[in-house]
Amino acid sequence: MRPKPNPKNFGAKIPVPPRWRRDVEKVLITDRQIARRIKSLARQIERDYQGRDIVVIALLNGTVLFLADLIRHLSLPLRLDFIGVSSYGTGVTSGDLVFTKELRLDVRGRDVLLGDDILDTGKTLSRVLPKIKILKPRRIRTCVLLDKPTRRMEKIVPDYVGFTIPDAFVVGYGLDFAERYRNLPFIGVLRPHIYHELREGAGLIHGA
Ligand code: PRP
Repeated sequence: MRPKPNPKNFGAKIPVPPRWRRDVEKVLITDRQIARRIKSLARQIERDYQGRDIVVIALLNGTVLFLADLIRHLSLPLRLDFIGVSSYGTGVTSGDLVFTKELRLDVRGRDVLLGDDILDTGKTLSRVLPKIKILKPRRIRTCVLLDKPTRRMEKIVPDYVGFTIPDAFVVGYGLDFAERYRNLPFIGVLRPHIYHELREGAGLIHGA
């Protein structure tokens, strides 16, 4: 079920839009590449969930853009819910996880599709999955837009992956640094001086 990573999608010679050039070193994945990949993920998910009534759970906050785009390509009966979870770290490393919103929908006996924008160390999913499993869904599958396997600390293997990416500090399309850059329509690599400046100037930074 897991799609083949497609490294050819990277390194597109797309210039960084002028307004982001001070902060973003390069465009890693363009908005068109994201849109195309999401459509193909949706087709795959539709096939796998034929005849099912699913509950889609998005992990706040970063996943909102990805899930909003994904579910509008899913011609399946579904319900949508959110879990709020955030790591309070240095901005560069994942810190302690804090739950900011609990699930509202009943998932007992349901097929759950759990979406996250990025799978990095795996700490978030390894904390969230048991919380959902305890609610006795029929089955949980995970769907991440980005997978950064080189940083994995927990044994998590996602069912659907948009792009497997190298160990770069990525922002945009929902992903933040210190709560900024979520609104970039593409996924870009942050210039190191940005996170060095913020780390030195502001002390504790929230975000990963
Ligand atoms: C980010 C991202 C994932 C998590 C992945 O969330 O949205 O949920 O980190 O990292 P991990 O695999 O190392 O746990 P973050 O805590 O930064 O909150 P956000 O979604 O509000 O940006």
